[in-house]
Amino acid sequence: MAKVTIDGIEVEVPDGTTILNAARKIGGELVPPAMCYYTSLKDSGGKCRVCLVKVAQGSTKDPRPMPKLVASCRTPVMDGMVVQSKSSAEVLEARKAVVEFLLINHPLDCPICDQAGECDLQNLAYEHGAAATRYEEDRRTFEKIDIGDKIKLHMTRCILCYRCTFVADQLTNDRVHGVLSRGDKSEISTYIHKAVDNDFSGNMIDVCPVGALTDKTFRFKSRVWFTNPVDAHRNCTKCSGKVILWKKGDDILRVSARKDKYGEVTEYICNECRFEHKTVSDWTTEGPRHVEHNSVISQNHYERTDLLKLKKEIERQIEFEKGAHLPPEPSPKLHE
Ligand code: SF4
Ligand code: FES
Repeated sequence: MAKVTIDGIEVEVPDGTTILNAARKIGGELVPPAMCYYTSLKDSGGKCRVCLVKVAQGSTKDPRPMPKLVASCRTPVMDGMVVQSKSSAEVLEARKAVVEFLLINHPLDCPICDQAGECDLQNLAYEHGAAATRYEEDRRTFEKIDIGDKIKLHMTRCILCYRCTFVADQLTNDRVHGVLSRGDKSEISTYIHKAVDNDFSGNMIDVCPVGALTDKTFRFKSRVWFTNPVDAHRNCTKCSGKVILWKKGDDILRVSARKDKYGEVTEYICNECRFEHKTVSDWTTEGPRHVEHNSVISQNHYERTDLLKLKKEIERQIEFEKGAHLPPEPSPKLHE
């Protein structure tokens, strides 16, 4: 076991654990963001650099700091290591620069992108990004590509995190796409636009951190924050059958896999569950989905804690004005 201190909080983790996973064990704001690392995908990580942290002390044996910021998803902890994440101005500055890099070619088309509201890059840009761009050159553009009849690829939005290629490699036995070319010519392609056609290909949509791979059965049907997500399941012979139904009234607009608080799929689902069961009677509903993300997706939702807090505060004020001797609390911030 190794003891590591991250932003002043000590945690003990098995040897070989990465700094990112040690931080996730502590949880909260100090957890570095991650755009390419994905727990269930072997060898993922090390591509996007948004998870940079500062190692202020290497280990008890060798306390020298690491000379440069390191990718926390790829750097294992050492006993006695001291790490700075959100507490370091240098780290925050570097993450801001990485977001600027990621946005060099990524179009700012959130108003028409299906991923808006659940896009990791959108959330990251809100938290770490700069308000303006310094980029003046033309952005690279690509034609949209149909990858089979259910998935659409917008290469312009891709950040080359490689997650979808790992899904195809590790979850199916039929990878027919990958990253072609190098440098700013790199692109995800099926080479001859061949269909990605296997039972689990739809999971590429769920792992894509941006709106590069979208579900053609859901495209432009609704903004995600106008839908009502519920947990549901069905008996399936190919997968666990545990999904989220994104409903509008009684219509099921989309079926997706369930994700944890880091936006990672907990159980991959098959294409039959994802694309072929859009009737309420196909499913056993378990209850409303807890919306974890502190992003635009949580707008309009029954669980909005800011509205609950506001309601509580108003009730408190009314009580106070009625003569109860309760000191009013400061009004909660709406974006809290
Ligand atoms: S299409 Fe999506 S998942 Fe695939 S590399 Fe690009 S951003 Fe990553
Ligand atoms: S999450 Fe660590 S480099 Fe992408």
